[in-house]
Amino acid sequence: MKQYIIKGGTPLRGEVTIGGAKNAALGIIVAAIMANEPVVIENLPDVDDVHVLLDAIEGIGAIVERIDTHTVKINGALISNTSVDEDAIRKIRGSYYLVGALLGKYKRALVALPGGCQIGSRPIDQHIKGFEQLGAEVTIHHGKIDASAERLVGEHIYLDCPSVGATINIMMAACMAEGRTIIENPAKEPHIVDVANFLNSMGANIRGAGTDAIRIRGVESLHGSEYSIIPDQIEAGTYMLAVAATGGDVYIQNVIPKHLEAITAKLVEIGARVEEFDDCVHVSADHRLSYANVKTMPYPGFPTDMQPQMTTLLALSEGTSIVTETIFETRLKYVGELRRMGANITVEGNAAIITGVDGLTGAAVSAPDLRAGAALVMAGLAAEGFTCVDHIQYIERGYENFEEKIRRLGGNIDKIDAEDERAVRKFKMKVS
Ligand code: UD1
Repeated sequence: MKQYIIKGGTPLRGEVTIGGAKNAALGIIVAAIMANEPVVIENLPDVDDVHVLLDAIEGIGAIVERIDTHTVKINGALISNTSVDEDAIRKIRGSYYLVGALLGKYKRALVALPGGCQIGSRPIDQHIKGFEQLGAEVTIHHGKIDASAERLVGEHIYLDCPSVGATINIMMAACMAEGRTIIENPAKEPHIVDVANFLNSMGANIRGAGTDAIRIRGVESLHGSEYSIIPDQIEAGTYMLAVAATGGDVYIQNVIPKHLEAITAKLVEIGARVEEFDDCVHVSADHRLSYANVKTMPYPGFPTDMQPQMTTLLALSEGTSIVTETIFETRLKYVGELRRMGANITVEGNAAIITGVDGLTGAAVSAPDLRAGAALVMAGLAAEGFTCVDHIQYIERGYENFEEKIRRLGGNIDKIDAEDERAVRKFKMKVS
């Protein structure tokens, strides 16, 4: 098993370039199979979740041509199978988009229930409600979602909560339904807009993505397209906070600063410097930062996917902070690992009460999920001494070349085999 070994205490400095948004890529890869012509997708992040999904669509007959690391050509004309049930897709979240895409195009889908990070119960009732309102019959049996319809007809759908997954899934099915669908109370995350823009580039008719109501006029077929995925808001945010936690100074390139506003605002509030350029943010921190209260909210609020990284930063800041998680009920499980590194955090219900400490100390910790894993790496970079983070397969699901990018910023990190004593010794000699 692989793990990261980190020697902390070096401020991150220099320049890092952000890749394509993982969560947009998952929606876009699946939406691409709805066209009967080739679709070229650029700025694809080279991360495990993307590879799993590309393999899954290949498995049902889509032609997937990997043009280079960040570009893929997908042709869904010859899809022969609407049933997807591989072990790998049960581990990722984005696999549920196969239901919306196959149901929209073929009026039938049988897809293994999605997995993803264990951060809460993660129901899919809003997805199912939407499909049913469009006229599908949906059942869950033997761990699979079974959806089928004679025809799909546009409807007025009100989501009980602004679910990212349900919004994208219903949008995909509705864009090939008859007539007009309105999704009220949709999620407004940047990747909702990106998936809608991509579907429109293939001939769909979707208006209002990113606002309080999405209006979709169904079309009979979708055509080929070339599309470039937006930059990853969460990857960018993770580097912004890692820079602040290590007292560094970094230009974070290929970002959309508007998508980072909630993160930027908190950084500025606690005393870090953030300069915004057209497609870059410059983050620096040359003194100890101060406390803040943070509540996770749907976009444009503070993203739940940045909560563990923010908690980690506040664990090192002066004063008492409260971080409240309102989206996923068990998303504070990693706090125990931070405590092993000397953090002073107590959890009460869905809130972390953080009393800032002067510094963290390196320890052996375990990544419980993707974003908490990234937060532990961040903690390791800021801590005194050596930190080992295991279960890094979670981190690799969503961060491209994580250790390489950190190394280029001057961080001391390596990926090694957990059992390889020699690699540990070599790393320690190199960095001491
Ligand atoms: C997506 C992201 C994930 C991010 C999350 C919130 C992907 C692949 N994953 O996950 O990284 O943390 O958005 O920004 O894009 N809910 C229901 N019923 C439903 C659906 C959701 O009650 O049918 C609830 C969930 O329990 C949760 C909230 O709605 O409390 C938000 O979930 P949702 O936006 O759907 O998250 P995901 O799409 O799973």
